[in-house]
Amino acid sequence: MDRDRILLTPGPLTTTLRTKLAMLKDWGSWDADFNAVTASVRSRLLDIVHGQDSHVVVPLQGSGTFSVEAAVATVVPRDGHVLVPDNGAYCKRAAKLSQMMGRQATLMPVPEDRPVDAAAVEAQLQADPRITHVILIHCETGTGVENPLAAVAQVCERHGKGLIVDAMSSFAALPIDARSTRFDALIAASGKCLEGVPGMGFVFIRKAILDACAGNSQSLAMDLHDQHVYMGKTGQWRFTPPTHVVVALSEAITQFVEEGGQPARLARYTQNCQALTEGMAALGFKPFLDPAVQAPIIVTFHAPAHPAYDFKRFYEAAKARGFLLYPGKLTQVETFRVGCIGAIGPHEMRQAVNAVRETLAEMGIPDGTPAL
Ligand SMILES: Cc1ncc(COP(=O)(O)O)c(C=O)c1O
Repeated sequence: MDRDRILLTPGPLTTTLRTKLAMLKDWGSWDADFNAVTASVRSRLLDIVHGQDSHVVVPLQGSGTFSVEAAVATVVPRDGHVLVPDNGAYCKRAAKLSQMMGRQATLMPVPEDRPVDAAAVEAQLQADPRITHVILIHCETGTGVENPLAAVAQVCERHGKGLIVDAMSSFAALPIDARSTRFDALIAASGKCLEGVPGMGFVFIRKAILDACAGNSQSLAMDLHDQHVYMGKTGQWRFTPPTHVVVALSEAITQFVEEGGQPARLARYTQNCQALTEGMAALGFKPFLDPAVQAPIIVTFHAPAHPAYDFKRFYEAAKARGFLLYPGKLTQVETFRVGCIGAIGPHEMRQAVNAVRETLAEMGIPDGTPAL
């Protein structure tokens, strides 16, 4: 096969040749040329959320979770208390990392197949005045459900609470406008819907709270206030930057803008999601979520009921046909996931469905009908 395998996952994703080629050069971490790339990436990231007036953006080395952890460490005071509406695995992870850093955390259970209800968040804020911040996972990648960012932001603003948004799998695809949606911190990463490669995250921090963040972090490496101050003074990252990741992200952002920015990306991912769900429905598969609450990012499907089904075999047979699927993340029901994001279009999604059709045939499974 002369084509790279298509990654139908929530990141790393399939990237373009241009993005890959951008990594074929070495850069000095102190050099002015590299500092200019960092500055340009930061500025163009702010443009994506219309945040030039209201926010700064601070990049951080590492996978997405490093930046979630850094955002909480930097923005939430050590005696702070976070509320995490919980409809999935990434919500639980955010609460856990907050607690491990010594912050109080309350999980607010929400059914996994339902979006967070802003009115329920408001009731919880009224019932528990100890809460200082809400952490909202914008798209809960564990299922693919979209949570109502604008409505939760309004509730937080009304009650004078901070809001931290994990927009890891939604940023650059779903609309986020800092001019109308108030958030204290919003986190995403290079290797998601911007279609860069993994290796760095970035956190938008509201300028109005920035000074109060000094000294919050109990960790040196995770201190985004310090990273911001140092970058402001020197133009450099505090510690060794992931140079190739940064230049690949710069090239990926250029292509994102050429494509037409967030609306165009959302339109392409929506087409991908439609091609996928229609094709899979024709094979008898059933999505876990109601389409009304499904973000066009990643789709969770029920596993087929047929006794010959085994995810490992299913995965290997689809892989042999050039497509990498993703395991499910639910504990109660057997599922698998298929990502709609990356440098792919509906044509690749139809090819993926065809690979699944052939895979079922190879496994002797007549169709994808689940055990419901
Ligand atoms: C919503 C969300 N939060 C956090 C993460 C964690 O990112 P990472 O695995 O890069 O640490 C992911 C990864 O897919 C995610 O989808």
